[in-house]
Amino acid sequence: MENKTVYLNGDYLPLNEAKISVMDRGFLFGDGIYEVIPSYSGHLFRFQEHMERLENSLTIIRLTNPHTREQWLKILTPLLDSSLDQYIYLQITRGVAPKRDHAFPENIPPTVFAMCSNIAPLDNRDSGVKAISVDDSRWELCNVKATTLLANILLRQQAVEQGCAEAILVKDGYVTEGAASNVFAVIDGILMTPPQSHEILPGITRDVILEIAQQNNILCREEIISLDALKTASEIWIASSTREIVPVVELDSEKVSDGKPGPVWQTMNRLFQAYKKSLS
Ligand SMILES: Cc1ncc(COP(=O)(O)O)c(C=O)c1O
Repeated sequence: MENKTVYLNGDYLPLNEAKISVMDRGFLFGDGIYEVIPSYSGHLFRFQEHMERLENSLTIIRLTNPHTREQWLKILTPLLDSSLDQYIYLQITRGVAPKRDHAFPENIPPTVFAMCSNIAPLDNRDSGVKAISVDDSRWELCNVKATTLLANILLRQQAVEQGCAEAILVKDGYVTEGAASNVFAVIDGILMTPPQSHEILPGITRDVILEIAQQNNILCREEIISLDALKTASEIWIASSTREIVPVVELDSEKVSDGKPGPVWQTMNRLFQAYKKSLS
């Protein structure tokens, strides 16, 4: 295990010395939330937007934000290496309770943990990846970036065991998102992505793609996509902070178009990379 410096409850310390109690509610119940914030050349990408999503997640699980945005920036910055593309993993749990009880403990400080890792894009990102569609078995608060990821893990594992990079989740015949990504599709020449709701995470990469599309006259709609419609798409992409925009070239063992990344992805990926560069 790489022994990098991490942040835990006010201290910077080597990873192998960062310890929490087994009574932490994150450990016992998955009672916490997290954020993943990319950093390019030492600049946290869309920091304000990630902070806004963090605040929303905290509000929904009824946990007080322990820090202001300025304090978060001060805490996270020392973890970054400005020569690398990295991401911050930041987790806040409801803290260490005196006993295991579902009800919230009173007057307990939250546990705050942050670490930084290098971004390693998928080896085959530019040639595209395979995906499967699976039933979305998750709960009703998918807009919260909750640490409770058991359903997502089981769904992604199903994909991996079938030689695929992602599971595309389907609820009542409609696409929600990927196990750890948002989904885009080009259908009848229009770029589409499911609208925001409690059924999907409001992805920051998703927002950037929508903005880039608008600024560059790429026809784009936030619209419900049925699995049947997805199967007619000329392009399918998955999008997330750590993997960026990845073309899906095979869905449920069927090629998407000719099985190669499509022209809209080529354009969007070029614009996305240029946008990232323009910020550093
Ligand atoms: C379930 C889910 N949806 C969407 C995303 C994409 O969000 P973002 O672009 O903010 O990384 C993620 C990221 O990990 C995710 O886990």
